Amino acid sequence: MQHFLSVKDAIDVQALVKEALLYKKTPYADKHIGKNRTMGLLFFNSSLRTRLSTQRAAQNLGLELIVMNVGQDGWGLEFEDGAIMDGNKAEHIKEAAPVVGQYCDIVGIRSFPTLENREEDYSENVLNQFVKHTGRPIVSLESATRHPLQSLTDLITIEELKTKPRPKVVLSWAPHVKALPQAVPNSFAEWMNAADVDFVITHPEGYELAPEFVGNAKVTHNQEEAFKDADFIYAKNWSSYNDYGKILSQDPSWKITTEKMALTDNAKFMHCLPVRRNVVVDDAVLDSPNSVVIQQAGNRVWAAQVVLKQILLKIIREESPYLF
Ligand code: CP
Repeated sequence: MQHFLSVKDAIDVQALVKEALLYKKTPYADKHIGKNRTMGLLFFNSSLRTRLSTQRAAQNLGLELIVMNVGQDGWGLEFEDGAIMDGNKAEHIKEAAPVVGQYCDIVGIRSFPTLENREEDYSENVLNQFVKHTGRPIVSLESATRHPLQSLTDLITIEELKTKPRPKVVLSWAPHVKALPQAVPNSFAEWMNAADVDFVITHPEGYELAPEFVGNAKVTHNQEEAFKDADFIYAKNWSSYNDYGKILSQDPSWKITTEKMALTDNAKFMHCLPVRRNVVVDDAVLDSPNSVVIQQAGNRVWAAQVVLKQILLKIIREESPYLF
């Protein structure tokens, strides 16, 4: 694996899931594979799970770590080619990224969308400029339009908990107080479309995701109908894609409740976290035995570990082809 930016970088999705579940049983099986190598984690935004789980995964593989809140502690970064840098941005990505590449063998980047300019956000300018200029493998720790480590985790969790060969998985929009990115639902849809599941998306009118992410999923505006016989309910808020970045509805009737969960086939409740209790989902659902959000967050380690292993194997192969 060269980079990990989307499901397209996973040559065999099912193999990745299986290997991740093996790591869950034997976390230190490849303890020496990352010896004398360093991973850098650069955060433009806040993170709890991604930050800690990726560190833990890297440590399990023997990697050293450098972590920087680049959005807070770094120089203001300019991404525009040909910019006259007489404003508040002191450093261009053309220097910053290759400098990071001097210190790190693998680089993880967490960036967020502006939610103001769809074309700019969906061009993935920040992530792509790191890919272009760092000279090292790049791992997306969530970008403007995708969160692939989260989605791989979600698939691992579904594989671990499913009770039938082809479970019904429902991605449900839920209310929120802030305008949130489409990255998690986009990415979840992309990975579910690559998996052997009956995949349904439900949201109020106006919250259609970009068609390239929806793929072959069934889409309905009737949340209760979507929940019928579901095996997994994946709740997430997102802002509008068509009326870009806008909150069109905060309709509390879309909140996930015990009554709605009762329509399912004893479904597991999933959410990427952080989650706003009693806005997105009722306490009674989150605190029920069917909520798997903590197990799901725990699986972030194994998703990151299997991705880092694939990248390390490629680095090692290229450095020492005679070994293979
Ligand atoms: N789910 C997730 O990415 O959580 P953090 O934003 O805390 O990393």
